[in-house]
Amino acid sequence: MDITLRLQRRQPGQEPYFQSYALSLSPQNTLLDALNQIKGEQDGTVAYRKNCRNAICGSCAMRVNDRPILACQESVGQAFAWLEGNGQTHHGKLTLSPLGNLPVIKDLVVDMNPFWADLDVFDPYLLRTNAQNASLEEFRQSPQERALLEQVSNCILCGACYSDCDAKAKNKSFVGPHALAKVNRFLLDSRDQASQQRLERQNQGAQGVWGCNNCKMCKLSCPKGVAPLSQIEEMKIRLFDLLDPL
Ligand code: SF4
Ligand code: SF4
Ligand code: FES
Repeated sequence: MDITLRLQRRQPGQEPYFQSYALSLSPQNTLLDALNQIKGEQDGTVAYRKNCRNAICGSCAMRVNDRPILACQESVGQAFAWLEGNGQTHHGKLTLSPLGNLPVIKDLVVDMNPFWADLDVFDPYLLRTNAQNASLEEFRQSPQERALLEQVSNCILCGACYSDCDAKAKNKSFVGPHALAKVNRFLLDSRDQASQQRLERQNQGAQGVWGCNNCKMCKLSCPKGVAPLSQIEEMKIRLFDLLDPL
């Protein structure tokens, strides 16, 4: 199929503009294939991130027609089908732009430092009360305990949810859906011993769960089915239980 790929381009310190490229691709080709074809055959100056090509590293997150996706996971055919299913005309044209809520470095490459800084706010690692005297034995989990982590551990920290988080756009101190999903990941982990401390921190201000305004974009856009909003809702229920145990 013949398509036109419009890329949002941006040079450091300059305003963005769009540049179109004509391509011949199969509907099964991914958007990353399309970018690679442009870079290899038409324009080596186009900048984007890629690594695994298998939807596990998170590098290639970007937007197609304003929708956050992984470019190596979304096929050209799927991108057109989504537009058609949502009543949008496309005339064989797709538009790629960088993730939102993050500064653009060049073209489709964004500065992920604010994303990592927000992830760090709520201790994204196991906390043990007796860590200094920890036994040398491993902390075993039953298959049932491990199964509780299944969904939320699938997060690959790609930034798709963060890109279109309405609360993040309006409140810079809100940590974002990825960081809150990670808090719930440790609340669900039988090896973590800081549940109360983690929940109490969530109950302070609008940096954590109470800052979410329930726009649902993180649930719709996560390419790995983590559904951060569902993790946030679970934490709110835990918080209610903690504050009002009756
Ligand atoms: S929760 Fe989903 S969208 Fe958000 S960073 Fe993790 S994998 Fe990406
Ligand atoms: S539901 Fe909440 S956390 Fe998720 S994108 Fe919307 S405002 Fe952000
Ligand atoms: S290149 Fe790794 S997720 Fe797309």
